[in-house]
Formats: sequence, structure tokens, C-alpha cells
Amino acid sequence: MATINSNFLKLKAGYLFPEIARRVKAYTEANPDKAGRIIRCGIGDVTEPLPSAVREAMHAAIDEQGDRATFKGYGPEQGYEFLRQAIVDNQYASLGISADEVFISDGSKCDTGNILDIFGKGNVIAITDPVYPVYVDTNVMAGNTGDADEKGAYAGLLYLECNAANGFVAEVPSEKADKKADLIYLCFPNNPTGAVATRAQLEAWVAYAKANDAIILFDAAYEAFIQDPEIPRSIFEIEGARDCAMEFRSFSKNGGFTGIRCAYVVIPKTLTGASDTGERIPLHQLWSRRHSTKFNGASYPVQKGAAAVFSEEGKQQVAELIEHYMGNAKLLREACLSLGLEVFGGINAPYVWVGCPDGLTSWEMFDKMLGEAQVVITPGSGFGSAGEGYFRISAFNSRANVLEVCERLKTLIA
Ligand code: MLT
Repeated sequence: MATINSNFLKLKAGYLFPEIARRVKAYTEANPDKAGRIIRCGIGDVTEPLPSAVREAMHAAIDEQGDRATFKGYGPEQGYEFLRQAIVDNQYASLGISADEVFISDGSKCDTGNILDIFGKGNVIAITDPVYPVYVDTNVMAGNTGDADEKGAYAGLLYLECNAANGFVAEVPSEKADKKADLIYLCFPNNPTGAVATRAQLEAWVAYAKANDAIILFDAAYEAFIQDPEIPRSIFEIEGARDCAMEFRSFSKNGGFTGIRCAYVVIPKTLTGASDTGERIPLHQLWSRRHSTKFNGASYPVQKGAAAVFSEEGKQQVAELIEHYMGNAKLLREACLSLGLEVFGGINAPYVWVGCPDGLTSWEMFDKMLGEAQVVITPGSGFGSAGEGYFRISAFNSRANVLEVCERLKTLIA
């Protein structure tokens, strides 16, 4: 008898974004006359065309594949040197990271999920609430949790509540807390709330991790959207982080690669975990082994395109994309504020996190926005029970659509 991984049976409902897509499809089938009016501000998917610097580099790479002299088959599993070096030179120049500490992949969603392969059982996993659902669901799949309660909280996880009072930045657990975290997922700029952590807040997390021999899994996929020069862009800007953190970054949201797929993890060689016998083992070595066994590398044309993000032309074009999306975020933020709504994020992040009006629940607000304004948002409760009463608007859209959303919000809520 072939048995299954029964941990999958603990998962609540479907994954958030397919569930939203399902509801939108049901709505359009029931209201075909409204289908053309729908504006999608749910999933954070880029809308603007791929920068020309990236496209040109990818075209050239494809042409290389058409010539025996320059043809390339399997590439290095950890990524081509040209891209790893470009990442270090452009993103980590003064942070003491070397090119062989960078692992190229096909996305941060996969990386943040797959990383659990190299960690043992029994770790106490700290997760913020609200949170990017991938961190929770992959821990459920890996058997690191018990069952979910009626609010969707899984037994065994250490939830760090984020709320208006703490500005949606998780506080370090007190020294007296009964549980000490072993693995800590932090995401800044935050998905879904758009919150950013100050240097002092990140220093407190690094100090906690070092004091408790914990590891921070730092998701910096939205780093490029930070506008405030005082806000750290990398966990490695914090002293001591090399010994207690790894960092996930992506080309999805800055370079517009959600459909092209390219990302990377930085694992310092000094970062270790304990084996069953207590021996300290570099995580770099384990991830390298895992990557070589289960992954054959992102494709050559994609890596060439990613490297072009760091060319002079590419940097300029990416800056324009960021400016465009952050201009959208500002408009959405201001529209919500002018309606007297409680608003977070949207200043250093492409997500605006908004309190639902009139005591509506997150899904009630979702239904209202879809049914009355034909705007798709993401219900806050989809990111965890602490997200209840909020909704997230994504700024990834055309300017015309964002202006239209602002207008429709006014009619809906005024
Ligand atoms: C989101 O909408 O939260 C993102 O698109 C998720 C992702 O990047 O996987």
C-alpha cells in the first residue's frame, strides 16, 4: 500500500491566491456583464513589461544556444559565476558576502519552502501573524506542526503577533517566554503589511538569534522598494548576522521576473546548525548538496537576463519600474487615508495594508470590493488570524488601473 504524507491533510483550504482566483472566476461566471470591469489588485504580480536591457540579454543568450561554439547544456547547479558575482558586486559590495555564498534559483517561493529540507525535526518555528502563507504551509507539509485550530493557527508554531500597536513589526519574544525559537521567518519589507524594520529592530532580532542559537530566514524579496535610506535592505547590514541568518532575494518584483523566474539565497559559510550529535555543520554545505541533487540550475538565458538587471541600462530601467509601482502605492495609500481608513505600508513597500471599514471582516470586504466595485483585493485573514479586519491592496498595476481603483474606492466607501 502506497501511503501519503498525511501532513498535507492538515492544510486549511486551498492556497490563498488560487482560492481568490476561484472566487473571482465564480463571480465573473455569475456576472458576465461585469467581467470586463474587473481590476486585479490581489496577488502581487507585476504588470509592466520586462526591461529592454533584460530582453536584449535574453535574446542574445538564446542566439548563443543556436551556435555550437557557444551552446550551453547543464549549467552549474548553484548558478553561473557571472550572475553570482554581479549580485555580490551590486547588492552586497560592502557586506562581506562572497559569490560562492550565493545560490541562484527559480524563485523565492521555492527557496523559502525548499530550505526546510536541510533542517531537522523538532525545531521551534517562529512565524509572524499575518505572514506570507508559504512559510506556514511548507512547515505543515514538512510535519513541523500539529493540527490547525478553528482560527487556522497550527499547534507547535510560535506565532509572533503583528498588529497596529507594534506597527506590524514582530517583537522579539521576552526572555521569560516558555518557548525559544530555533528558526525565525522574517520578511522585510513585509508581505503582506508593507511594514519595514528599523536597524534597531533588526539588531534586536540578530541579538535574540545569537543568544538562543537560532537561525533567521530573512526574506528580502521586496528590498528594492525601500525608499528610506535609514532602513536596512539586507539582514547582513546588521553586525553578527553572518553567523545567524540567511537571506532570500528575488528578481520577480524589481526586474519583473514573476513569469521568467529567477531568485537567490545567500548562505554565509559561517552559518551553522547542530547535527543529532551536536556537531556544528555549515548550512552552506547542506544547501549546496541539496541544490546539486534536486535542482539543475535556472536556465542560462534567464540568468543572463537577471545579470542585465545590474547593467547601467538595466539599473535605470529597474529604477523606473520601482518608481512607477511606488507611485501607485502612494496613490492607493492616499486614497484610503482620504476616506478615513486605517492605513499601513505603501511607503517602502508595494503593498498597502488597510483596515476594513464598518467592522467588516476581511472576506466580507473582499466580497464587497468585488461585488460592488469589481476590484480584487487580498483579505487580510488569508495571511493569518491577526490579519482579520484588514485587506491588502497590491500596487502592481498600470497607473490607469490604480487611478480607477482610487475612484471606485471613493464611491464604495464615501
Ligand atoms: C503575493 O501576492 O503575496 C505574492 O505574489 C506572493 C509571491 O510572491 O509568491
